[in-house]
Amino acid sequence: MAIDIRPITPEDIPAIVALARVTWLDAYAGIISREQIDYMLAQRYARAGLEADIENPEKWLHQAFVDGALAGFAACEICKGEFKLDKLYIHPGMQRKGAGAALAAHAAALARSHGHSSMILAVNKHNGQAIHAYTKYGFRVRDKIVTRIGSGFVMDDYIMEKPV
Ligand SMILES: CC(C)(COP(=O)(O)OP(=O)(O)OC[C@H]1O[C@@H](n2cnc3c(N)ncnc32)[C@H](O)[C@@H]1OP(=O)(O)O)[C@@H](O)C(=O)NCCC(=O)NCCS
Repeated sequence: MAIDIRPITPEDIPAIVALARVTWLDAYAGIISREQIDYMLAQRYARAGLEADIENPEKWLHQAFVDGALAGFAACEICKGEFKLDKLYIHPGMQRKGAGAALAAHAAALARSHGHSSMILAVNKHNGQAIHAYTKYGFRVRDKIVTRIGSGFVMDDYIMEKPV
């Protein structure tokens, strides 16, 4: 299985948004409400916002291909001085083939190359599949955090950290 990682360009945005929607609906059904999924997708995956992210020198967006087919994507950013893996989504039909691990390793290399010695992320406390994967990648829970994101919705997360 060949895994190939490339930067996301503006032309890739429609495919990334479509992949995000399918993956979120699959992963978060039963964890957060359909209303909250739609609200967060609208907040985070608006075309203009992603175009601005691509231009932002403190953000990095990458996509992974497995045997030439788009499998998923990752977004990293500097958050309050720390290097954060902000998004990691692999299409349900492409999970468990190593694409998530490859994107996480790519993010770790990016963190190192920008002078960071650790990388953090936030993951829903009830997202067992992702917590299992992140633990396998070397992350450990550092903190618990509840964040109000507007319209009465909250994110109930662990902050996980990994040395890089
Ligand atoms: C979590 C995720 C990013 C992992 O990426 P991946 O490419 O599927 O996983 P990898 O091939 O790197 O495998 C790593 C581990 O993920 C876990 N995993 C992945 N898919 C799984 C599945 N369908 N069921 C159970 N565990 C799974 C396993 O622990 C796996 O290790 P193992 O096969 O040795 O048991 C991916 O499954 C995903 O996108 N999930 C849905 C969206 C999500 O929750 N993203 C994280 C948001 S914070």
